[in-house]
Amino acid sequence: MEHSPLRVLEFYSGIGGLHYALMSSGVEASVVAAFDINTSANHVYRSNFPRTPLCQRNICGLTVEYIEQLRGDVFLMSPPCQPFTRQGNKADDKDNRTNSFLHLLDVLLKLVHKPGHVLIENVQGFEVSATRDHLITVLMKCRYTYQEFLLTPTQFGIPNSRMRYYLLAKLTPLKFHFTTTDKPMTILPDGIDGITEPCVAPLCNFIQPMSCSEEDKLLVPPEVLLRYASILDIVQEDSTQCCCFTKAYGHYVEGTGSVLQCNSDGNLEEAFREYLLGGKKSADSLVKLRLRYFSSAEVAGLLWFPAQFQFPCNVTSKQQYRLLGNSLNVHVVSVLLYRILFNDCDKTT
Ligand SMILES: C[S@@+](CC[C@H](N)C(=O)[O-])C[C@H]1O[C@@H](n2cnc3c(N)ncnc32)[C@H](O)[C@@H]1O
Repeated sequence: MEHSPLRVLEFYSGIGGLHYALMSSGVEASVVAAFDINTSANHVYRSNFPRTPLCQRNICGLTVEYIEQLRGDVFLMSPPCQPFTRQGNKADDKDNRTNSFLHLLDVLLKLVHKPGHVLIENVQGFEVSATRDHLITVLMKCRYTYQEFLLTPTQFGIPNSRMRYYLLAKLTPLKFHFTTTDKPMTILPDGIDGITEPCVAPLCNFIQPMSCSEEDKLLVPPEVLLRYASILDIVQEDSTQCCCFTKAYGHYVEGTGSVLQCNSDGNLEEAFREYLLGGKKSADSLVKLRLRYFSSAEVAGLLWFPAQFQFPCNVTSKQQYRLLGNSLNVHVVSVLLYRILFNDCDKTT
């Protein structure tokens, strides 16, 4: 029997991480509508997916009737995460940025044609929020079964930490092919072979060749080294780990992502000893290490965006880091889609 492609609605589409994950999952599906309010994210999305209908709209304004007529079989959503992070004060459902997601849940309750499959991505911390409890109540009312996960790309062989919350849901009578639990799983269920990679690839696999002048542009300035050296996370080409890149990467130092030591002959410990012995008055010893930021293309690679993904030339590097910091790991979502959400989706018993 011939199937027509599943109709996917991509909410909070940003630069299209969910769309790329869907493509790489091999699921026969087509994004029939994507929604985001952010003009620069939409500019990037449009240039990479020129044929996908993208609506520059506030999701709070989408009506049940409008969503109903789109007849979405799959909802993919990555709602704003600031309400659930420490920096965002964990205001949860009291934060206005959660309103659009609460609105979508209300729409879901009222839809006659409900999506058979749902995937939601958010930050770690969402799983203990009142918003998550409300989401579960709505899913139960609508007769979905669900499974939550807390997973990071290093579990998938990618040398980048990005612990994230995922919820996958199937509309009854669709079922998962494993026993679901009411707590987030921190590894993939038994019997799903070949998913978690025992060994993590070194960073050199993700580092792009560049000229000295290109490298110079990415160097951490001496004044930043002088002030913040002790809180930098410094990695080398052979490291198998780097920190989560956030939207402030490149212009704010603390906890925003790792920097790379380009001078592999330099001794990091010695350089630090010199810097500390000198009373932190000179960053010369650290400058010699040639510490640089990862380029936005390298960050995109670590997030598993495909090589064809490009930023239009008028998107500044600050915007690029910002948009990537808001995005997601394409590989992790892709595995969740093809190994779990759509695995045996036709089985109803
Ligand atoms: C966590 S990011 C999602 C990023 C996306 N998955 C990607 O790969 O780039 C959240 C996105 O939601 C968008 N957003 C936030 N509130 C919105 C609203 N009320 N209506 C539409 N989009 C909204 C933001 O502009 C942002 O792009």
